[in-house]
Amino acid sequence: MDILKDKILSEGTALSESVLKVDNFLNHQIDPQLMHEIGAEFKKRFEGKGVTKILTLESSGIAPSVMAGLLMDVPVVFARKRQSLTLTDGLLTSEVYSYTKQETNQICVAHKFLEEDDTVLIIDDFLANGKAAEALIDLAEQAESNIAGIGIVIEKSFQEGGGLLRDRGHHVESLARIANLAEGKIEFVQEREN
Ligand code: G4P
Ligand code: NA
Ligand code: NA
Repeated sequence: MDILKDKILSEGTALSESVLKVDNFLNHQIDPQLMHEIGAEFKKRFEGKGVTKILTLESSGIAPSVMAGLLMDVPVVFARKRQSLTLTDGLLTSEVYSYTKQETNQICVAHKFLEEDDTVLIIDDFLANGKAAEALIDLAEQAESNIAGIGIVIEKSFQEGGGLLRDRGHHVESLARIANLAEGKIEFVQEREN
C-alpha cells in the first residue's frame, strides 16, 4: 500500500534495528484520513470472505479496525488488557507474552461479543513475533468463531510472526512489510502491488 509506505518513510523513524516508531500517525497521534484508506484496503483484501466481525486488541489496533468496520459494515470488538469494572461474567481470556517486556499479560473479551456463527477478521497495528495475533486467534477459537484472516498495518518481516501464522494456514494481509531497519534506514519487502 503505497501511501502507507510513503507515510512510513516520511514520518517513521527506525529507533533501533528492530523497532519502528510511527507515533505521528498510528501509535499516539492518529491520521484519520490514512486510517480511512487503511480500512478501505482491508475491506478490499478480505472481500468475499463473509466477515461478520472485526477483532482487535487495545489500543493501537482500534483506529484502523473501526475504519475497516465502518466500511465493511460490521461491529468491532477489542480485546482488553485490563479488567473492566462492568465486564466480569462470561469472559474468554488468553495470554500474550511480550519479548520486549519479558512478561505475560492476560487479554480478555466478553463471550457474548464473539459467537460461534461469527466469521472474524483479526486486525492489529504491528506484527512482530506474533504473540498478540496468536492470543486473538485463541480467543476466536475459544468462541468457536471462524477466522477469515489477519489484517496487519505494519509487518516486520524480519521477525517470526508472519511466517508462523502463514505456516499455520492463516490468510495474513500486511499493508506494509518491513524487510530491514538496520542503520536507521527503513527498507520494505519487494512485492508486486495489486
Ligand atoms: P515484541 O513482540 O516485539 O517483543 O513486542 P511486544 O509483544 O512486547 O509488543 C509490545 C508493543 O509494541 C505492542 O503494542 C506491539 O504492537 C508494539 N510493537 C511491536 N513492535 C513494534 C515496532 O516496531 N514499532 C512500534 N511502534 N510498536 C511495536 P502494545 O503494547 O499492545 O501497545 P498499543 O497497542 O497500546 O500501542
Ligand atoms: Na498493538
Ligand atoms: Na503498539
